[in-house]
Amino acid sequence: MSVEARTKRVTVPQIRAMKGDTPIVCLTAYTSLTAVLLDENVDLLLVGDSLGMVLYGMDSTLGVTLDMMIAHGQAVMRGSKRACVIVDLPFGSYQESKESAFRNAARVMKEVGCSGVKLEGGVEMAETIRFLAERGIPVLGHVGLLPQSVNTAGGFRSLGREEKEAAAIVDDALAVADAGAFAMVIEGTFEPVARRITEVVPVPTIGIGASPACDGQILVTEDVVGLFSDFKPKFVKRYAELGAGIADAGRAYAEEVRARRFPGLEHCFGTRPAVRQGSE
Ligand code: KIV
Repeated sequence: MSVEARTKRVTVPQIRAMKGDTPIVCLTAYTSLTAVLLDENVDLLLVGDSLGMVLYGMDSTLGVTLDMMIAHGQAVMRGSKRACVIVDLPFGSYQESKESAFRNAARVMKEVGCSGVKLEGGVEMAETIRFLAERGIPVLGHVGLLPQSVNTAGGFRSLGREEKEAAAIVDDALAVADAGAFAMVIEGTFEPVARRITEVVPVPTIGIGASPACDGQILVTEDVVGLFSDFKPKFVKRYAELGAGIADAGRAYAEEVRARRFPGLEHCFGTRPAVRQGSE
C-alpha cells in the first residue's frame, strides 16, 4: 500500500484519541462489497471471526482458520480506503504461546495490510497482548462474553450480574489496558459493568450488548441490515430488512424465469429491435 493510501486511513492512535470525545462507530465486514458500502460512515471495520457463523453457517467461531481470516481481511482492505481495519485472530492461533501469537499476528499484518488484530481474553492474555504491542502489533482487546470460549462457558449468556463476576471482568479490562491494548471490545455484559470499565480504563471501550456509556459501539453488519430472520438478539437494532428484500427478489426472478418473462428482448444481444435502433 502506498504511503498516501495509508495516511488517508483512520489510524490506531486516532481511534485511541477518540476516548471520551466522539463516539467510535464500528461494524463488521467480511467482504470487499460490504467494505465499499460501509467505509465512508465508519471509523473502524472489524473482520470478525463471527464470519464463521454468519458466512459459513458454522455453529460457533471455533472452526475459523487463520487462512480464512487473511483471505477475508484482504477482501475488506481492497474494498475500504478510509476505515481502520482490524482482523480477528481466530481460535487456536494465539492461545498457545506469546511467540506463536506474534508469528500469526505478524502474518496477518503482512498479508492483509490491516492496522491491527483483535484477540479475546483478559488477565490470562495480558502477557501476550504486551508481547505483541511492544513489537509493533496494535491489539484490540475483547473482554466480557468471549465467543471462542463458548465450550468452557457452557453457552452464550450475558455476564456480570453477580458482583464477583462483574469484578473479574473489570480486572480483565484493566489487565488488557495495562498490557497495551489500544482499545477493547466489551461484549455481552450487564450495563453497569461496561459503564464502570469505561470509567476506569484509559483506552476506548467498544460495546456490543454492553452499554451506551462505552466510547464506541460495534454490531455485526448482517444483523444491522436484517439478513437473519430467525433470531434477533436483544442488543441488535435493525436499520434495514435486506433479508426479506433478497428473498422477495429471488421469488420474483424464479416466477419470471418459469413463466419465460425473463429475459426480455431488452436483456438480449443481437435482437432485431436493437439492430433497428442501431444501438448494437
Ligand atoms: O467476531 C466478531 O464479529 C466480533 C464482534 C462481534 C465484536 O468479535
